[in-house]
Amino acid sequence: MKQALFKYLVFIALCIATGARGQISPGEMTRAHTDLDGVNHCTQCHTVGKTVSSEKCLECHQPIKLNMAEKKGYHGSAVVLSKSCVSCHNEHHGRDFKIVVFDKNKFDHKQAGFALEGKHGKISCEACHKPANIANADIRKKSGTYLGLNSNCLACHADYHQGKMSANCAECHNFDSFKNAKPFDHNKTKFPLLGRHKDQISAFGST
Ligand code: HEC
Ligand code: HEC
Ligand code: HEC
Ligand code: HEC
Ligand code: HEC
Ligand code: HEC
Repeated sequence: MKQALFKYLVFIALCIATGARGQISPGEMTRAHTDLDGVNHCTQCHTVGKTVSSEKCLECHQPIKLNMAEKKGYHGSAVVLSKSCVSCHNEHHGRDFKIVVFDKNKFDHKQAGFALEGKHGKISCEACHKPANIANADIRKKSGTYLGLNSNCLACHADYHQGKMSANCAECHNFDSFKNAKPFDHNKTKFPLLGRHKDQISAFGST
C-alpha cells in the first residue's frame, strides 16, 4: 500500500513538473519496452523535474552500465559517454519505432575501442559476434547483440604457445596471419636469455 501511494505521489509530481502534457503518456513504448507502458512505469525512466534520466535507464541496462564504468566498448567511448541516452534512443513513438539506429556496414569499429586490422577486417561480424565468444550467460542468450566480447587475443584464439609467450600475440604477430612472426626477440618470451645463454646468442652475431 505504502509503495503504491508513493508511486502515485511521484507520478503527480512528475505531471506537475512536465506540465499538463505529462498526465497522459505521449505515446506507446517501443516493442522491447512493451512492459513499461502505463502510468505505473513512468518513474522508471523519468525523474521529477528532469525529463529522462540516464541513470534510470542504466538500472535495467547493467551490461551497458559496466562498459561505461570500465570505459569499454562503444557505450564506454569518450564520444558516447559525453551524451545522454535519449540523444540516441527516443521513446513514445509506438511499437515499431526503431529505438536503436545502427548501420552495421557503416560502423567504424575503432569506436568500440578495438580496430579491425588485417584478417579481422575481412571476416564477417558474426565470426566474432557469436554466442560462443560471449562469457556472460545473460548476454549470451540475446540474439543479435554486439555486447559481451572481450578484446584479449586469448578470448578467441587458442594458446598455441601454451603460456610460454606473452598473451598479447600482437607483440610478435601481425593481424594478417600467425605464420610470419616478427623477428624473434627472446626477451619477450617468458624465458628471457640470461647469463651464458645470452653470450651464446651474441657469439652468433645476434643482438
Ligand atoms: C522506457 C522509458 C520511458 C518510460 C517508461 C516513459 N517515458 Fe516518457 N519519455 C521517455 C523518453 C526517452 C522521452 C524523450 C525525452 C527527450 O526527447 O528528451 C520521453 C518523453 C516524455 C515526455 C515529453 C517530455 C518533453 O519534455 O517533451 C512526456 C510528457 C513523457 N515522456 C511522459 C511520460 C509518462 C506520463 C509516462 C508514463 C505513462 C512515461 N513518459 C513513461 C522515456 C520513457
Ligand atoms: C524497467 C527496466 C528498463 C528500463 C527502466 C529501461 N529499459 Fe531499455 N530495455 C529493457 C528490456 C527488458 C529490454 C529488452 C531486452 C534487452 O535488450 O535488454 C530493453 C531494451 C532496450 C534497448 C534495445 C532495444 C532493441 O530493440 O534491441 C534499448 C536501446 C533500450 N532498452 C534503451 C533504454 C533507454 C534509453 C532507457 C531509459 C530512457 C531504458 N532503456 C530504460 C528494460 C528497461
Ligand atoms: C551516440 C549514440 C548513443 C548513445 C548516447 C547511447 N547509445 Fe545505446 N546504442 C547506440 C547504438 C548505435 C547501438 C547499437 C550498437 C551497439 O549495440 O552498440 C546501441 C545499443 C544499445 C542497446 C542494445 C544493446 C544490446 O545489444 O542489447 C541498449 C540497451 C542501449 N544502447 C542502451 C543505452 C543506454 C542506457 C544509454 C545511456 C546510458 C545509451 N544506450 C546511450 C547508440 C547510443
Ligand atoms: C575480430 C573480431 C571482431 C569482428 C570481426 C567484429 N567485431 Fe565488433 N567487437 C569485437 C570486440 C572484441 C568488441 C568489444 C571491444 C571491447 O569491449 O573492448 C566489439 C564490440 C563491438 C561493438 C560495441 C558494442 C557496445 O555497445 O559496446 C559494436 C557495435 C560492434 N562490435 C559491431 C561490429 C560490427 C557491425 C562488425 C562487422 C562489421 C563487427 N563488430 C566485427 C570484435 C569484433
Ligand atoms: C572476438 C574474437 C577475437 C579476438 C578478441 C581476436 N581475434 Fe583474431 N581472429 C578472430 C577470428 C574469428 C579470426 C578468423 C578465423 C581465424 O583465422 O581464426 C581471427 C583471425 C586472426 C588472425 C589471422 C589468422 C590466420 O592465420 O588466418 C590473426 C593473426 C589474429 N586473428 C590475431 C589476433 C590478435 C593479435 C588478437 C589480439 C590483439 C586477436 N586476434 C583477437 C577472432 C578474434
Ligand atoms: C614473443 C613472441 C611471440 C608471442 C608473444 C606470440 N608468438 Fe606465436 N609465434 C612466435 C614465433 C617466433 C612463431 C614461429 C615459431 C613457432 O612456430 O614456434 C610463432 C608461431 C605461432 C603459430 C604457428 C603459425 C604457423 O606456422 O602456422 C601460431 C598459431 C601462433 N604463434 C599463435 C600465437 C598466439 C595465439 C599468441 C598469443 C596468445 C602468440 N602466438 C604469441 C612468436 C610469438
